[in-house]
Amino acid sequence: MKKIYAVYNGSFNYLEDIKISPLSRAYTFSDSVYEVIPFFNFKAIAYKKHIHRLQNSCNALGISINIEAISSEITSLIKNSRLENGYIYYQISRGIDALRSHMYEDSLDEETFGYAVEHNFNSQTLKVSLCEDIRWQRCDIKSTSLLGNVLSMNQAKKDGCNEVIMHKANLLTEGGASNIFFATDDCIYTPSLANNILPGITRELLIEEIRNLGLNFEEGDYNVEELSSAKSIWLTSSTKGLAQVAEIVNLNTNLITNHKLFLECERSFNNKYLS
Ligand SMILES: Cc1ncc(COP(=O)(O)O)c(C=O)c1O
Repeated sequence: MKKIYAVYNGSFNYLEDIKISPLSRAYTFSDSVYEVIPFFNFKAIAYKKHIHRLQNSCNALGISINIEAISSEITSLIKNSRLENGYIYYQISRGIDALRSHMYEDSLDEETFGYAVEHNFNSQTLKVSLCEDIRWQRCDIKSTSLLGNVLSMNQAKKDGCNEVIMHKANLLTEGGASNIFFATDDCIYTPSLANNILPGITRELLIEEIRNLGLNFEEGDYNVEELSSAKSIWLTSSTKGLAQVAEIVNLNTNLITNHKLFLECERSFNNKYLS
């Protein structure tokens, strides 16, 4: 397998040669945040938005960082990996404790880690399972604490699914690693950010495209019944782009493959970011 180009605390190395402490708070508490920055044709997609969200995540945890240094590491990872299409995974933890302790010392130095990996952005269709959203109340933070997502997604995997669509007491939230869009014959809908979801960058880019196209669009609170009567459902993320839902294994739907509103969105998004 090709070696993966990586960086740990500012030193570039191959992933397999990086050693970390078991007392990293990322390891003991998931006291850490992360970002996934896609690049296509050697160029990052929505780079500033990703850097801005990484800074917001650190602010939410009270971790102070040198965003210029981090930004330059991310740029170097893209450049020096020599990969044409892929993504950067970049993680920042609060630091390494002397001994595991919930309450941390203020003197800790943040711990940073990233790598570049190849990825193909070919469009995919998804088989998903609908499930209760069992996560915490701060899903707006891109934290590495993803146990709710991990449990739900691996339960769904047993039914042959590659994603989940979550709802909190019948109100739609998001996918396990993506945001939700759905369409009726003449309007596109997405749950608003007030529904305790991640402010996805692909979601934001797609909303810009939908507005540019002048399509009918609403952000709001939607329930499972509204999803069930949708003509098209798709999920968005930095690595998936726009991925159509072909089937929800535990919900009756009337989905149309390649619905015109989905195709308009996909064409516009792919023309702008993936060509
Ligand atoms: C829970 C969750 N929601 C939404 C997204 C999509 O965010 P983005 O478009 O910024 O990749 C992700 C991405 O991993 C995610 O994990």
